[in-house]
Amino acid sequence: MAGSALDTISADAARARLVDQLIANGRITSPAVERAFRRVPRHLFAPDDLSIDAAYADDVIITKRGADGRATSSISAPWLQAMMLHAARLRPGAHVLEVGSGGYNAALIAEVVGPYGTVTSIDIDSDVTAHARAALDAAGYPHVEVVTADAETGWPAAAPYDAVIVTVEAGDLPPAWLDQLAPDGLLVVPLRMRGNTRCLALTRESDHLIAVDSIVCGFVPMQGTAADPVSRRALRGDEVTLRIDDPDTRALNLDALTTALNGPQIEAWSGVTIPPATSFDSLHLWLAGQPLPYGQLAVDRDRAADLQPQNWVACPALLTDDSISYLSIRRLDDGTWQFGARGYGPQAVALTRHLLDLIADWDRHHRTTPGPHIAIYPSGTFPPATSQPRLVVARRHATTAINWTISGSRA
Ligand SMILES: C[S@@+](CC[C@H](N)C(=O)[O-])C[C@H]1O[C@@H](n2cnc3c(N)ncnc32)[C@H](O)[C@@H]1O
Repeated sequence: MAGSALDTISADAARARLVDQLIANGRITSPAVERAFRRVPRHLFAPDDLSIDAAYADDVIITKRGADGRATSSISAPWLQAMMLHAARLRPGAHVLEVGSGGYNAALIAEVVGPYGTVTSIDIDSDVTAHARAALDAAGYPHVEVVTADAETGWPAAAPYDAVIVTVEAGDLPPAWLDQLAPDGLLVVPLRMRGNTRCLALTRESDHLIAVDSIVCGFVPMQGTAADPVSRRALRGDEVTLRIDDPDTRALNLDALTTALNGPQIEAWSGVTIPPATSFDSLHLWLAGQPLPYGQLAVDRDRAADLQPQNWVACPALLTDDSISYLSIRRLDDGTWQFGARGYGPQAVALTRHLLDLIADWDRHHRTTPGPHIAIYPSGTFPPATSQPRLVVARRHATTAINWTISGSRA
């Protein structure tokens, strides 16, 4: 974005407002990260035609779309960047690899690691790296290295890294990221687990990794050798789409779900309520952790309003090859929210009952706990002798195991 003197004054004011807001919301929690956000001019990394206000909104900025209209590159939302910087536990002098470029986040990292640290930012798309290089130079960060390459093989030239910060959604962990990580380094990665993406901060524990931080997030999907996007099935034209992550479920013949959705709906309500503005993030991951085929519904709010899913973008759904039941929610007179389930198809009753039981189990045992224990086992190290995880996501390079603690034991 070009800058006149007036633009600079309003950018400074807009940036100060954004940082104050990030501190007030608890997203920025350290002086080092605050200083970085106060210094780096986000508008210089944004598209030229974006207003100063939009450049400093606490929101994602899409910078490139693919032929299908979906975003392939973006500047991530400041709240998420702040949380990821904290999760990476960066210190002055650290050596950092950023996977997925754009320039702005690399500049923030450069501010935190200071003059004795190094930042290498790698992106598969030469348009992105050309823009990042130019913007970093214009903003005063010529020392940040920008590389055009597929990050599947990392960037060995500047390894080992104290932190590898991945800013693109991954379905698997390429071995190079771990090989190039220092022994006590941190890998921060938005990992997709049965369609649920959590930005995990991973540290080594003997032969595997454990998550010491987990943030609900969304990122553009990985391209290149490691590309493994969720599959999307249109169930009612483009009004209702089912996103499926599991290789096994992708292979199911789900054509009958369209017929089911055009038939009668049953709805049932659980006894579980939550107060307004209360997070229930762990419920989605809990519902993913059961053996039935599982997907997430994306529903057009205007054209398929009759479905009333709990989440219009990614609503947990239990599946059979002819029936579907998904999470719903409604507001009660006292202002609280009540969870329920809606079902379609010949097995709707059983599926819906099962979904209500899962909601009740989550309420009884897990809604107030800090969330599940997530461990990642590089190829050849799974299964561990000691645990039987509730959810296992096996990929080519790594297997993710998710356990839930109940009163000192794991479910
Ligand atoms: C969300 S953007 C990065 C945001 C950026 N870090 C920022 O400053 O906010 C994700 C980027 O990952 C890149 N990407 C996707 N697959 C990749 C791969 N295999 N290797 C390297 N970069 C990849 C995309 O081209 C895209 O520019």
